[in-house]
Amino acid sequence: MNKIQDLQLLIEKAVSNLNYPASPAELYEPITYILSVGGKRMRPALLLMACDLFGGNVEAALNPALAIEVFHNFTLVHDDIMDNAPLRRGKATVHEKWNTNIGILSGDVMLVEAYKLMMQVETPILRQVLTIFSNTAVGVCEGQQMDMNFELQNEVAIDDYLTMITLKTAVLLGGALKIGALIGGAGDADADSLCTFGEQLGTAFQLQDDILDVYGDPDKFGKQVGGDIISNKKTFLLIKALELAEGDAKKELNRWLQTTDFDNTEKVTAITNLYNQLDVRKHAEKAMQTFAEQAFTALNQLSLPEERKQYLRNFADSLLIREK
Ligand code: IPE
Ligand code: IPE
Ligand code: MG
Ligand code: MG
Ligand code: MG
Repeated sequence: MNKIQDLQLLIEKAVSNLNYPASPAELYEPITYILSVGGKRMRPALLLMACDLFGGNVEAALNPALAIEVFHNFTLVHDDIMDNAPLRRGKATVHEKWNTNIGILSGDVMLVEAYKLMMQVETPILRQVLTIFSNTAVGVCEGQQMDMNFELQNEVAIDDYLTMITLKTAVLLGGALKIGALIGGAGDADADSLCTFGEQLGTAFQLQDDILDVYGDPDKFGKQVGGDIISNKKTFLLIKALELAEGDAKKELNRWLQTTDFDNTEKVTAITNLYNQLDVRKHAEKAMQTFAEQAFTALNQLSLPEERKQYLRNFADSLLIREK
């Protein structure tokens, strides 16, 4: 087994070795820009770990791992356009630094580049891996559309929210693990259990992301704090607040959701205060814990020695105490 730090080093080196043409600069520069500004690289790490757990060759999994990271960064470039986000990993977003059309097109080419990398898997599992990757990518788009639709809906049920975040975020963690497991030679049952582990972990991860969007430390978070509040995102916190608020609090919350002309800071402060009064953070953390536990239950199903499962547990734990 490789140490997680060694896998991360391997990924960092491989990402910095990705080379794109010089021209047209407007198409390719944003790719190098977004890929070079950090990020936790957890999806490629999960893919390599899954391969490693089953005794596979990590080097052979490197291109598919890069494919997942390039795909993820493509979704971020387009997500930042849709979310009107000014900051990503502490730097200007692509559409802010260049413009929206450049963000759309460089994102498009990243998706294609991701496929080219994924196509490097060995022939016997090529079709299976590409099918998983394609289904995952479609899922992310479906989740992102639901996320957009929910911005305009007054009420969203928790179950619909959970479906939305499973699609936009969790399926990619599951897909990365499943692909890694298959490259490593795992059987279908183990690959499926790992996929479930990833989906449950990914759901916990998105709940954490919703919490950080309000309560993150601006110096560490790297994104605009309060962005979800500004755009009426139906996050777990907002859905819970709508459920719990009564009387004046309910009126105030609804007034902010309906006002189109507002000062961003004022809205973020007011809604954060309502969240604090209603203690919605506690509910979100509890839900996060539930999904983390479900992830660990799926992990227990794996036909692997205990210390190998512990390796994934440790990584999952470290993810859920992140600050960015
Ligand atoms: C951001 O993902 C998008 C979500 C699914 C919440 P990450 O938090 O993994 O972003 P980076 O790659 O580490 O910046
Ligand atoms: C992430 O949702 C989903 C995808 C990028 C596919 P968010 O919109 O919450 O992600 P951040 O917070 O901008 O990273
Ligand atoms: Mg976003
Ligand atoms: Mg979004
Ligand atoms: Mg977010």
